[in-house]
Amino acid sequence: MKHLIAPSLLAADFSNLNKAINIVNNSEADWFHLDIMDGVFVPNISFGIPVIKSVKKYAQKPLDVHLMITDPSKYIQTFKKAGADILTVHYETCPHLHSTIQIIKSYGMMAGVVLNPHTAVTLLKDIIADLDMVLLMSVNPGFGGQVFIENTYSKIRELRNLIDISGSNTLIEIDGGVTMENAGKIYDAGANVLVAGTTVFASEDPVNTISKLKNI
Ligand code: DX5
Ligand code: ZN
Repeated sequence: MKHLIAPSLLAADFSNLNKAINIVNNSEADWFHLDIMDGVFVPNISFGIPVIKSVKKYAQKPLDVHLMITDPSKYIQTFKKAGADILTVHYETCPHLHSTIQIIKSYGMMAGVVLNPHTAVTLLKDIIADLDMVLLMSVNPGFGGQVFIENTYSKIRELRNLIDISGSNTLIEIDGGVTMENAGKIYDAGANVLVAGTTVFASEDPVNTISKLKNI
């Protein structure tokens, strides 16, 4: 399978969100990546439900919604109604992860778990077969434009091994500090989905940058 590209709108110009949406629509990108931050789980506040609804009106591709909020299980139906197609929750925020994943799936969304850089891949051993996707944070969550943490490569290889042993089709998504320089190496380590914010939206020609990321 060719890898997927999910540009993160966090790095877009919010005064001209429609332009950013059209960039993704008219590019080789596969998904929109939307970062929801509550200022409690992560030290930053981004945007919420009204913005997701607005993006959904014009987006011609699935919305990959990354929840960096405490107690995400409270809001699963709300995010479904807002337009989420893929919902990822942090391992660190879910004491009843199995239940949360089943509820996300029951609403017809793809369900994923996110691991912070310090959270071990082995903790997913007993749930990996239930997951549509695992998102490995390659920076500490909360901000765009940070530097990729090198330890992520070994986590990708370890996760790939865990998925292969389980016989599941779980996707591996990598989020944070993805650049033109490291995208190939991330893909070679075993990733399926690359999120890119700054690399796409701070570039001269975002549509062309997306194309380059897609065709590495
Ligand atoms: C960080 C977010 C990322 C962020 C990535 O907490 O989860 O999705 O937008 O931004 P870049 O690609 O600039 O590192
Ligand atoms: Zn994200």
